[in-house]
Order: sequence, then C-alpha cells, then structure tokens
Amino acid sequence: MQWINDKRSYGWLSIALHWAAALIIVAMFVTGFRADMAGDAGDREARGMLMGWHISIGASFALVLLARVISSYAQPRPTPPEQAPALKFLSSATHQLLLLAVLIQIISGPLAIWSGGRAINVFDLFSIPSPFATANDGVHEFAELMHAIGRWTLLGLIALHILGALKHVFMDENGEFRMIAPKRS
Ligand code: HEM
Ligand code: HEM
Repeated sequence: MQWINDKRSYGWLSIALHWAAALIIVAMFVTGFRADMAGDAGDREARGMLMGWHISIGASFALVLLARVISSYAQPRPTPPEQAPALKFLSSATHQLLLLAVLIQIISGPLAIWSGGRAINVFDLFSIPSPFATANDGVHEFAELMHAIGRWTLLGLIALHILGALKHVFMDENGEFRMIAPKRS
C-alpha cells in the first residue's frame, strides 16, 4: 500500500486528505453562503443557526484542513503531467494559491470570532475561549476582510482547478485523474 507520494503518483494519505478537505470546504461554503442569504432576507434566527453550524464544523475540522496543507508540503510532489510550460505554471500556481487560501480561511475565521470578544462555541458541547482579553476592532475588521478575500479567491481557484482536472482527463493524450488511487507498479 503506497501511503506517501512519490515522483510517479499521489499516495493514499494525500488522496484521503484531498477528498476529506474538499468535503469540509463544500460544507463551509454551503453553511457560510446560506447564513449570508438568511441574513440578507432578515431571518436572524436562520442566520444564527447556520453560522453556528459554520463555526462548529469549521472548528471541528480546522486541524484536518491544516494537516492537508502541511502534508502537501511535507511530501514529494509527483512530476506534473506533460503540457505547455504556461499551463504547467498555471496548474502549480493554482495549487499553491488553493493551499494559501485554505490557510487564510482557517486562521481568519477563528480570529474574527475571538477578536470580536467571543469564544468559539462548538455544537454547544464545548467552547474555545478567546486569547484576547477584550474585543479588538482593528484585528476583527482585518480578519473579516481576509475571510472575505479568502472565500472568493478559494471559490475562483476551485472552479479553475476543476476545469484543469477535467482537461487532463478528457482533452490530454494519456491524460489521467491522479487523485483517485496511487499508480500500481
Ligand atoms: C474543493 C476544494 C479542493 C481543493 C482545495 C483542492 C486542492 C488541490 C491541491 C492543492 C492539489 C495539489 C496536490 C496537493 O497539494 O495535494 C490538488 C490536486 C488535484 N485535485 Fe484538487 N482540490 C479541490 C477539489 C477538487 C475536485 C472537486 C476535483 C475533481 C474534479 C479535484 C481534482 C484534483 C486532481 C485530479 C488533482 C491531481 C492533479 C495532478 O495531477 O497533479 N480537486 N487539489
Ligand atoms: C475553508 C474554510 C472556510 C470557508 C470556505 C468559509 C466560508 C465562509 C463564507 C462563505 C462566509 C460568508 C458568510 C457571510 O457572508 O455572512 C463565512 C463567514 C464566516 N466564517 Fe467562514 N469559512 C471557512 C472557515 C471558517 C472557520 C474555520 C471559522 C471559525 C471556526 C469560520 C468562521 C466564520 C465567521 C465567524 C464568519 C462571519 C464573519 C465573516 O464574514 O467574516 N470560517 N465563511
């Protein structure tokens, strides 16, 4: 069983973390955007409930997302598929920026809550107290701005990333979908 990446293919650890992170990120977008929509519609109760889910899921899985980012840097990267240099650059830049945007979200989310003077409430089971002695407006606004930049960056990059994956599978000669299983030797 190949757990770790090598030059030929992704290992099971990367593959498991890639898809676990993708599911968590989808859950974060669904709860975050639905909370936003409920807020716009003036439904404070629904917004509160959805935001509660967003924060609880985010806090529960932030370490999985962090592990996903670290594991990507801690392992060898498989040699990228052969394609034009500009596309190789675009693909690698997209991967780097995706990892950065995930990092921004898992830092700015908790920071926005703590700097607002609140604890992070996880499914009403327990809460993670703020390291700030009092609310800090400057940090709070900065964290909210970063969370907004992070979410739109992430959304745009995911769209580009999916297009890239589809191109490899359907348009490239010998194209393959490398995030499903390691190559058998
Ligand atoms: C939803 C959030 C997603 C994020 C944040 C994400 C992020 C990444 C990153 C950073 C890599 C580079 C390898 C690594 O560092 O582990 C990668 C590779 C890959 N992803 Fe995603 N991904 C997402 C969703 C998807 C989806 C929905 C698909 C399928 C359409 C997909 C297909 C792939 C494939 C095939 C590779 C391997 C690329 C190669 O051949 O090197 N990803 N992904
Ligand atoms: C990849 C991970 C994440 C994504 C994609 C994401 C996405 C979003 C989205 C779409 C919103 C919009 C809600 C609105 O406009 O009202 C939002 C807001 C928010 N999120 Fe996240 N989020 C992530 C991680 C986190 C984490 C880990 C936490 C904290 C544990 C968190 C806490 C918050 C808070 C407090 C807000 C409301 C304040 C604000 O808009 O900055 N988020 N997030």
